[in-house]
Amino acid sequence: MTGGVEPLDRAFSSPQAKQRYARRLFATIADRYDLITVLLSFGLDGRWKRRAIDLAAPGPGARALDLASGTGDLAFALAAHGASVVALDVTHRMLQLARVRAATFNAGRSPTWVTGDMCGLPFPDAHFDIVTTGYGLRNVPDLKLAIDEIYRVLRPGGTLVSLDFNRPENALVRSVYLGYLWAVGGALGWTLHRDPDTYRYIPASIRRYPGAARVAGLMRAEGFSHAEWRPVLGGLMAIHLARK
Ligand SMILES: C[S@@+](CC[C@H](N)C(=O)[O-])C[C@H]1O[C@@H](n2cnc3c(N)ncnc32)[C@H](O)[C@@H]1O
Repeated sequence: MTGGVEPLDRAFSSPQAKQRYARRLFATIADRYDLITVLLSFGLDGRWKRRAIDLAAPGPGARALDLASGTGDLAFALAAHGASVVALDVTHRMLQLARVRAATFNAGRSPTWVTGDMCGLPFPDAHFDIVTTGYGLRNVPDLKLAIDEIYRVLRPGGTLVSLDFNRPENALVRSVYLGYLWAVGGALGWTLHRDPDTYRYIPASIRRYPGAARVAGLMRAEGFSHAEWRPVLGGLMAIHLARK
């Protein structure tokens, strides 16, 4: 990975730089986000999200919080199960698109949309039964702080479910995987935004991510009584399940 790496390296040079970069990036791609998600996941993203929701097991009336909610897939699925849902994202445009989608969904009560940062949640302690996040934890500037905040707002016995890319342990698998995402991301970025780096942020962020096993360890270290992860797509993706 050489060409175009410098701006991305700068994007990860500090938590503040990552925060600035991620905010700009997601505001830029918001209107293409749903299309890109289908293309990059070969249409499998919906299946992975259904699996995540099954693990979260939302019952009617459960208080659920979906973080980094984007255009709202997980929030709508939680609401369809009868949960009372708050959906938070730092990108206002993502939530505008979610609201437009809400008008076309006929499943459950619409989520409440909150623009905010998952590293500083505007909710009281022990307020939610369930916290979900899809492709959220990898994007935050401070992973430990985000997990701390999730722990704080969950009630004792509450459940965290997180779906994200994984950083494969095996060096060869990792190199092929990230090389593939680099090439495809570059092509999509050029085609849609005339900037190949746009979606190369994905492999760049995976490269710097601790990986699923260490993220589970971090959850336990932050106080979760139980944290495990389930491999998805042969371990290229992961779903974390943690209990407070
Ligand atoms: C890859 S999208 C995932 C959207 C959605 N969860 C899904 O699964 O389709 C990542 C989302 O994280 C949001 N995000 C990034 N950093 C964030 C932060 N610090 N706090 C809250 N949301 C954040 C972005 O605005 C973006 O909508």
